[in-house]
Amino acid sequence: GRIVVAVDGPSGSGKSTVSRRLAAALDARYLDTGAMYRAVTWAVLSSGVDPTDTDAVAKIAGEIELTIGTDPTAPHIAADGTLLDAEIRGPRVTAAVSAVAAVPAVRQTLVAMQRGIIAAAERIVVEGRDIGTVVASDAELKVYLTASADARARRRSAEYATDVSATAADLARRDRLDSTRPVDPLQQAPDAVVLDTTEMGIDEAVERLRDLLQG
Ligand code: CDP
Repeated sequence: GRIVVAVDGPSGSGKSTVSRRLAAALDARYLDTGAMYRAVTWAVLSSGVDPTDTDAVAKIAGEIELTIGTDPTAPHIAADGTLLDAEIRGPRVTAAVSAVAAVPAVRQTLVAMQRGIIAAAERIVVEGRDIGTVVASDAELKVYLTASADARARRRSAEYATDVSATAADLARRDRLDSTRPVDPLQQAPDAVVLDTTEMGIDEAVERLRDLLQG
């Protein structure tokens, strides 16, 4: 039958790896909603718009043509036909994405797209910040992944070959921005299963989620 799995949590919690691996194991689609906020941010920056100019940012989000591939073994995202998978992971996009994601019109546009993609899938694992609370509040399984601030900074700096303390400072800044805006996307759904991955390997986390789906 139909299965929607919502995976939320802060950066470095293991969301992306666990979500992709779970989707592959379930023979399901995979949707990275963070990539969509990052793609809009990339479009904002490359058109020279100030990320704090909310009207201009909202206009870009409304006009941009996003294409999202949902194969968990090869996810990709394109804006107006340009593949952006590498570009959207750079420090400039990462520094500006929280401001862009705070614009209500941007969230409205992207949430509507996300719901369309979810509705078209038989099985899908969706990762983000507001999936269990807003985007797919009727998901069969909601997971909130966490890990200690140290573990999250270590993972991120290993992934991007960046300095651990600078990465820790960046994650702290982004967590603060993401959770102090008018619409806080970094919220735990009351019915989410909380998994702390500080001492947990990827395989174990994926196994736990598969057990929860079966049980
Ligand atoms: O992978 P990481 O956790 O670093 O970030 P991401 O999932 O790529 O998301 C980047 C940013 O997009 C977050 O810091 C949020 O500001 C925003 N975002 C959001 O507001 N809502 C979502 N569902 C997903 C991401």
